[in-house]
Amino acid sequence: MTRQQFLQQTAMAGAAVLLSSLEGFAISTESKKIRVAVIGCGSVSGSYLPHLTASKFVEVVSLCDIIEERAISRAKEFNVAHHYKHIDQMLAGVPFDMMITLTDMQEHGRLNKQALEAGKHVWSEKPMANSYKEGRELLDFAQSKNLRIWGAPAVVNSPQFAFMSKAIREGKLGRVASAHAHYGHTGPLWSSFFYEKLGGSLPDLGVYNIATLTGLLGPARSVMAMTTIVTPERTIDDKGKIKVVAEDNTQLIMEHDGGVLSNVQCGFNFFDPHGHQGKSEDSQTIQIWGTHGNMALAGYDWAPHGVDMVTHDHEQPQRFVPDPAGYVWQQGASVISESLVNGTEPLIAAEHALHVLEIIEASRKSGKNGKKVYLKSTFKFPVV
Ligand SMILES: NC(=O)c1ccc[n+]([C@@H]2O[C@H](COP(=O)([O-])OP(=O)(O)OC[C@H]3O[C@@H](n4cnc5c(N)ncnc54)[C@H](O)[C@@H]3O)[C@@H](O)[C@H]2O)c1
Repeated sequence: MTRQQFLQQTAMAGAAVLLSSLEGFAISTESKKIRVAVIGCGSVSGSYLPHLTASKFVEVVSLCDIIEERAISRAKEFNVAHHYKHIDQMLAGVPFDMMITLTDMQEHGRLNKQALEAGKHVWSEKPMANSYKEGRELLDFAQSKNLRIWGAPAVVNSPQFAFMSKAIREGKLGRVASAHAHYGHTGPLWSSFFYEKLGGSLPDLGVYNIATLTGLLGPARSVMAMTTIVTPERTIDDKGKIKVVAEDNTQLIMEHDGGVLSNVQCGFNFFDPHGHQGKSEDSQTIQIWGTHGNMALAGYDWAPHGVDMVTHDHEQPQRFVPDPAGYVWQQGASVISESLVNGTEPLIAAEHALHVLEIIEASRKSGKNGKKVYLKSTFKFPVV
């Protein structure tokens, strides 16, 4: 059976295939590779493509960017045979199984929908859609077509996340009460979309910490936030001066089950000597406190260096899991491809990405009206 026939057949199987299991998707062709098409050949594609082209589960068949030179240049750099300047051309061009969306955030919902409509699986950079409603519709639509959609980030894949999750579940911290996370830098200047409507530090940066904290502490039931703009004007590389419309400074508090509270602070005005490439950051960015101990993640959750823990029976701080064991933040699409090939369910879940999206939207709302916002979405917990 060709891969095309396989995908058509699984699509026809419809609701009969359990969506909690990827067994039905396992690729039965000899090549055992997912053919992917990447849309958006800007900054982040420079991190994705080396990982994708090195994966034995992936064949990158085409690239697309509305700025055609970017698609041409990445195609040359990574030896990709086909490139297009419009999604319509890419969808009508060389066949593929999954689209990887790396465009401006505001384009994600529209492009992801178009890919699903064309029968493609989707891995999307964050956010997977531009509103919770749109994201829910995309997920429902994907399920109705027996397709899969996932959204970044991939923070639940790190061994440090697994260690923290296990420590909480085993009661190492006693009863968990409170947590904090932060992530920021002084803001990207290569594209204006980060500062436009539906951009902002929440979907670009806060998204990592929200995914980590909900992944560790469970789905949030409500959220309160304050959002501000600290730098009202920015000078963008190819546009000059622009007015900042989206928040660039946020603090939010989430309430999880059992009275647990966690807060996230994110922004585009945080001096950090490690800059946008904050991989060498070694200070603690996530802290969790319980009645018998506390633990903290050293480094950012997308580039963790280890977990520092103190407990009532071991008051000397200890660092655990200093090795990321191959985990890198840009691995999401490759990991998903491996799951699709092998028919195994990954840790990353669309329902979790959707929950994070609802929190982002609720934070914007709370920031505007000053009220607590109750959440309706949830996801399979614990993650690990
Ligand atoms: N840059 C990073 O280090 C980084 C890291 C993690 C995640 N991300 C996420 O990746 C996404 C892209 O960010 P970036 O920094 O690469 O932005 P970028 O501006 O460098 O690249 C985006 C590219 O998408 C193209 N594009 C926009 N609309 C398109 C459309 N309709 N069809 C085809 N191409 C289109 C643009 O021409 C541009 O080349 C965002 O969601 C961002 O949050 C970026």
